[in-house]
Amino acid sequence: MIPAATGAICLRMDARNGMGGSLAGLDLRAEIDRLRKERNAVILAHYYQKPELQDLADFVGDSLDLSRKAAETDADVIAFCGVRFMAETAKILSPDKVVVLPDMNAGCSLEDSCPPEQFAAFRAQHPDHIALTYINCSVEVKALSDIIVTSSSAEKILSQIPPEQKIIFGPDRNLGGYLTRTLGREMLLWPGVCIVHEAFSETELLKLRAQHPGAPIAAHPECPPHILDHADYVGSTRGILDFAKSFPGDTLIVATEPHIIHQMEKALPEKNFIGAPGADGNCNCNICPYMALNNMEKLYLALRDLEPRIEIEEGMRLKAKRSLDRMLEMASATVGQGDLGPVPAVGGDPRKGD
Ligand code: 13P
Ligand code: SF4
Repeated sequence: MIPAATGAICLRMDARNGMGGSLAGLDLRAEIDRLRKERNAVILAHYYQKPELQDLADFVGDSLDLSRKAAETDADVIAFCGVRFMAETAKILSPDKVVVLPDMNAGCSLEDSCPPEQFAAFRAQHPDHIALTYINCSVEVKALSDIIVTSSSAEKILSQIPPEQKIIFGPDRNLGGYLTRTLGREMLLWPGVCIVHEAFSETELLKLRAQHPGAPIAAHPECPPHILDHADYVGSTRGILDFAKSFPGDTLIVATEPHIIHQMEKALPEKNFIGAPGADGNCNCNICPYMALNNMEKLYLALRDLEPRIEIEEGMRLKAKRSLDRMLEMASATVGQGDLGPVPAVGGDPRKGD
């Protein structure tokens, strides 16, 4: 969902892009470097971004590491090469910074699957449950949640919640199901999915593995169970990258968005990294269409014009920040199983003044 104000900015952005010819002849890499200095900007990028964006970023990371970087930066401007919920998280944690997203249409199917009104109604039906919510959601859903998790922090955070505490987990039913299976923890799951990770084909994956006997499979927990069942390693993008740097063989099959392979090939050029296939036998359907909207031209324009800019109404920002702060605390905590104690519910209806 694009708030009305940013939607207007988006239209202006499209108009500027329509004049794309005016960028011809510009050395975009040099111009981006010049503007980054002039603006005292930091460029943050997710592993699913195009290689040229990953290569010029000041920091490339998974959702948790990018949130931490955004919270601690002393830059004046954050240029976020990722999707909107990531840039919004940066703005929630660093409200005094200007946060720009090269293409404001860079959404996420998980966010789309969880409209705040429906989530609020679901919560209201289960007043004895807390809401543990994946970071891939809107600001409004964060404001309705008690604790945010990322794929790299979910297990650690969940293990701190007392076993008797009832939990709603959304919006990703695959990550929620994976946590239920690995930790033996029943949760009420919201039925959202990532269209990118849903597109892997089990049949094609097994054919690929037969062609590369002994090659392990590393998968993101957003994959459905019939893919995760074949994985030798399941983890966040950073986790998968760490696994790629440490596995002993020479070939790895990667069941997540294939742009992450860029970092693997840079770190280990002598090894062979193969993207898991979709139903057509190749992995093009596993490129995230939202992440793919960002490019060099749009990043240059975003730094030049400081638009499109993330703006969040202050009351809503403060509500969303509570669940994100909990994530940052619990993801860094050294407490053990159930040590957290009862979780006081903080998620109310953000449209009410609670
Ligand atoms: P990570 O936190 O593992 O980087 O995941 C983000 C994401 O959107 C995966 O689809
Ligand atoms: Fe959202 Fe899936 Fe794209 Fe990640 S890969 S941003 S979960 S649509």
